[in-house]
Formats: sequence, structure tokens, C-alpha cells
Amino acid sequence: MLEVEHAETYYGETQALFGASIAVRRGEAVALLGPNGAGKTTMLRSILGLTPARRGAIRFGGRDITTAATSDIARAGIAWVPDDRRIFPSLKVKTNLALGKKRTAFRSWTEKQVFELFPALEYLLDRESENLSGGEMQMVAIGRALLGGPGLVLLDEPSQGLAPKLVQDVMKTITRLKNENIGVLVVEQNIRSVLAVSDRVYVIHQGRVVHEGSASALLADDVTRTKLLGT
Ligand SMILES: Nc1ncnc2c1ncn2[C@@H]1O[C@H](COP(=O)(O)OP(=O)(O)O)[C@@H](O)[C@H]1O
Ligand SMILES: [Mg+2]
Repeated sequence: MLEVEHAETYYGETQALFGASIAVRRGEAVALLGPNGAGKTTMLRSILGLTPARRGAIRFGGRDITTAATSDIARAGIAWVPDDRRIFPSLKVKTNLALGKKRTAFRSWTEKQVFELFPALEYLLDRESENLSGGEMQMVAIGRALLGGPGLVLLDEPSQGLAPKLVQDVMKTITRLKNENIGVLVVEQNIRSVLAVSDRVYVIHQGRVVHEGSASALLADDVTRTKLLGT
């Protein structure tokens, strides 16, 4: 579904990705791991066309999106749950959710289906978004992504700042998306939790993919995991 081939991405003259290649299949959860500053967010920004790759190729459903506009990439069915969530604080929850609505070639979720996934969300609709907790904001951000009919969801550190119980809820959500045949590319620092729900994993160091393989194998291999990720 998604193929990134030898992406080289720069911020001005500073190169952040050095020929990084990854792939995500339909209905597959793929973890993208690595230390701070490794280039994980840059990979997501390259896929979204926010910081387009200067060299290499990015394809979605066979279509070359390397230099496509971010709005076109969104309409093609790639949704983003950014690390800072980007919820408009001055708007009600229902308005923030409505902003995500659009038609794509993939199944569009109805509000009712989103509330089945996150029952608490229905009771927050009239709440001002600035008063939301971290966990509530995460539900709004993921709900907004689903209302946009995604075929692939990019999650940037979705469990960041959440209590342990809510971290497990985020991991369950990843499994739910997979079961709905949505592809998931997830950047995480909760390494073991995310490996437990992912199919495959890529580890990047300094803008290069240094490990690629099965998530369960890396979860079981303490030596390799500690060497690559320190945990
Ligand atoms: N807006 C930016 N301008 C310049 N350099 C940036 C910018 N954003 C990120 N970088 C640099 O790119 C590299 C990768 O960053 P990033 O993709 O955010 O890492 P990660 O998400 O893995 O922590 C880092 O060296 C970082 O300093
Ligand atoms: Mg990041």
C-alpha cells in the first residue's frame, strides 16, 4: 500500500533522511522506532508531503506521491495523528471532529462508528477542546483521522504523555484499525507495548534504516532490542 524507496529528506541544507526505505501493506501495523532525532517524524512528514523527499520515491496504492501536495495526499487516504495532536483549542470537540470529514476511495467512518470505538467521545462533543485531557485529545485526533476515510494512518508517538492504562487503550486501537484493514505506521517510545501489537518493525538511526523485521521477533530478542533501542 505504501512504499518509501531511498528517501532523502532535508530541512534546508540539513539532511535528515539518508536513503531510508520502508513499506506498509494494507491492514498491517508497522512500528517505526529509533532514538530522539533519528528521523521518525521526518519520515512521516515526507510521506505527507509536508517536507517532501528531495530524492527517492514514495508511492501510495501504486501512485507516485513523492512531490504531491499534502491536501492531495490526504484525499488519497493517508491520515495523520501528529505528535502534538493539532486540536484547535478554541473549538468544540464536535467541530474539531467535523474538520476531519472527507471522502476518499476508502471506507469513511460515521460518527456512530467512531463512538463505538471511543464511547467516551460522544459525551465530550460539546466540550471546549482546550479543556481536554491528554487521553481525550488523543481520542479526538484519532477520531478525526477516521472520519477522513483513511486507508493508512500515521501515528506519531500516540501514547506520549498518557497514563499506563491509556497507553494500552492506544495499543488496542492500533489492533482495531488493523482489523478494519487500515494500514498503520506508528512511531512510539513505548517499545515493547507497540511491538506487541505490530506486525513488522523498522528501526532508524541518524536517518538510516538499521533494522527491519518481524515485530514479535524483536520483542523476543532482548539482546538485539537493547542494542538497537536501549530497552
Ligand atoms: N524543522 C526542522 N528544521 C531543521 N532540522 C530539523 C527540523 N525538524 C527536525 N530536524 C532535524 O532532523 C533530524 C530528525 O528529526 P525528527 O525527524 O524530528 O526525529 P525524531 O522524530 O526521530 O525524533 C534531527 O536531527 C532534527 O534536529
Ligand atoms: Mg518525532
